[in-house]
Parts: sequence; C-alpha cells; structure tokens
Amino acid sequence: MTASRPVPAALGSRDDPHAQARAARTGPLLLHSLTFFRDVFVTLFAARRITTVVEVGVESGAVTAMYADLGATDVFAVDPSPTVDLQERYEGDERLHLVSRHSPAALDDLPVADLYVIDGDHNYAVVRREVDWVLRHAPDALIVLHDVLWPCGRRDQYYAPSTVPEGERHPSSEEGATVWHDDLTPAGFVGLGAFTAALTAGGERNGVLTAVEDALEDAAGTWTLRIVPAVFGLGVVVREGAPGAQEILRGVEPFASSTMLATLENNRLALYTRVLEMQYEAGRHADDADAMAEALVERTRRIEDLDRELARTRRELDEARAPRPEPEPRPPKELARAAVRRLRRAVSR
Ligand SMILES: C[S@@+](CC[C@H](N)C(=O)[O-])C[C@H]1O[C@@H](n2cnc3c(N)ncnc32)[C@H](O)[C@@H]1O
Repeated sequence: MTASRPVPAALGSRDDPHAQARAARTGPLLLHSLTFFRDVFVTLFAARRITTVVEVGVESGAVTAMYADLGATDVFAVDPSPTVDLQERYEGDERLHLVSRHSPAALDDLPVADLYVIDGDHNYAVVRREVDWVLRHAPDALIVLHDVLWPCGRRDQYYAPSTVPEGERHPSSEEGATVWHDDLTPAGFVGLGAFTAALTAGGERNGVLTAVEDALEDAAGTWTLRIVPAVFGLGVVVREGAPGAQEILRGVEPFASSTMLATLENNRLALYTRVLEMQYEAGRHADDADAMAEALVERTRRIEDLDRELARTRRELDEARAPRPEPEPRPPKELARAAVRRLRRAVSR
C-alpha cells in the first residue's frame, strides 16, 4: 500500500514511535488559547491585507506575536490585568504594544485596525459594546471572537471585579458549567475567583454569541458570521463588500463546516468536564478523610484522658478500701507512769 500523504513528523515513525505521545504531553491539558487557531489565522491573513491588529484579552500574551509573525506591523494588546511576564515578552519587538486598560473603553484611543480579535470579558454587555463599536467605527475590519460556543456562547461570564453595571448583569455564581447537566456546579468550569458565571443560560442578553447576533442584526449593512466549532468556538465576522470578504469566507468554510471538528470539540468538553468532576470528588474524599483523621486523633486523645482518669480513680478506691492499722496498745508500765504524773498534778493544785 502507498500512503497518499506522508505521516507528519509530529506523529512519529517506526524509529521514533513516541513522538506523538511526546507532543501530546507537552501541550496544556485543556486547550483554550487562540494560538490553536493558527491555521485559521493563516487563511485570514492570506485573504486580505492585515497590518494593524487590536487584540482584546491577552492573558499571557501567547498569541500576540503570532499576529505579528503573520504580517501585522502593529498589534495593540488590550488587557486590564496582563500577566507579569507579558512586558518581557513584548520587549524588543516594536510591533507589539501593551495597553493595560479595559475594552471597550480603550478602543476609542487606538488606531482603527484591520483585524479585531475579541477574547476579553465574555459577556453580553461587554461583547455587544465591543462589536457595536467595531461595526460603527471600523466597518471594513474583520472581527474574530473567541468563546462563541459552550460554555460562554449562551451564558454570561464576568471577570472579577466586574466592570459591567449591575443592571446589565445576570445573577451569577462562583460555580461553573458542565456538559453533564444544565445547572452550574462546584465540579464544573469554575473561575476560582477570576470570574463568575450567570446562574442560568439562554434567553435574552445572555452570552457572547447572543451579543454578536444582536449586534449584527441591529447594524446597517450585511454581515456574515461563521463559526469554527473547536476550542470553545471561534467566530469570524465580515461585512459583505469589505476587502477580501469572499476569500475570507471561502478560507474559513472548511473549518466552519467540519462536523468532525464539532464532534471532537464535544468529545473534548465531555472528557474534560468528566475530569473536573472526578477531581472535585477526589478533593471531597480527601477532605472527608482529613476530617475523619482529625476526629480519630481527637477521640484517641479523649480515650487516653479517660484511661488516666480511670487509673487514678482505681488507685484512690484501692487506698480507701485498704484496712486501717489498729492503734498500738500502751505497755502497762507506761500506763502506771502516766497515772502517777496525773496524780501529782492533781495534788499540787
Ligand atoms: C481568555 S483570556 C485571553 C486569552 C488570550 N486571548 C489567548 O488566546 O491566549 C481573557 C483575558 O481577558 C482579560 N479581560 C477581562 N476583561 C477585559 C476587558 N474588559 N477588556 C480587555 N481584556 C479583558 C482578562 O484579564 C484575561 O487576561
């Protein structure tokens, strides 16, 4: 048999059968960065000229340099709390600019970009304002949004402390979503203090995808949204007539229409949320075991105290029961001398 395509080096060979396993274990346990969409971005950069990029939501900055490597001359990375080593990553690369502020407020002060990558605060209020802003001020720009599918597509998530006005926020919880049932759970995708999740999913003004749909619905012009169903969902939004629009949609189509990608994503979510559940259960069992061990130590101490008390009581009881020695009878001579002494005392009075 002749293979129609050679096996990629990362998948190994007869001489290096562990290459794929090595590649698997060097990746993060949960893929969540936009870096994993590099193939899609290569297609987008090939389809239209992109020199200025605004990246909203940077975190470790793992992805910022990718835009520069693909051809952008200026990448504005907007994040109110970037990780500490981020500045170091950007140092020495004059194409990368860190903007330590919140979006959408920061957008007004930045140059109009060819590409907006939105991956900041994953909720309706913020994403709606961001998309509205781009549609109004940069209608030719291409918009890419992360987290348009489960869990944030139809359920708000709020970074803490939230900048979203109370009236625009759904009641939310520290608990997280799971694919195993519809309610939040402490055994789900929890924010561990970084973010909270809306108590209920769906309905109006809830979730990233709902925000994008509503913004496109209310905007002037004809916009197309395509979704790549992998790694929490990547939305690509382009206006009919914008530069490279047809090429962009053609390039994205194989990814967006892939049932295989969608199936793999669901499988990944099911596996990962099962792992989260098992981790949580293991944590609870460990807590129970700790509590039992503490109770055992306490009871052992109490038993030792009682043992000591019992021994003392037994000793006292034995002493109380022991026969008292009779007073020794006085010898008769001694008695006679005492009688003489008493008699003398009586006579001398
Ligand atoms: C999921 S991470 C971004 C990951 C990054 N895009 C990647 O693919 O590696 C979300 C980031 O958004 C930031 N963030 C939260 N609210 C924001 C806002 N209003 N504007 C900009 N960034 C925000 C958070 O600090 C966090 O670093």
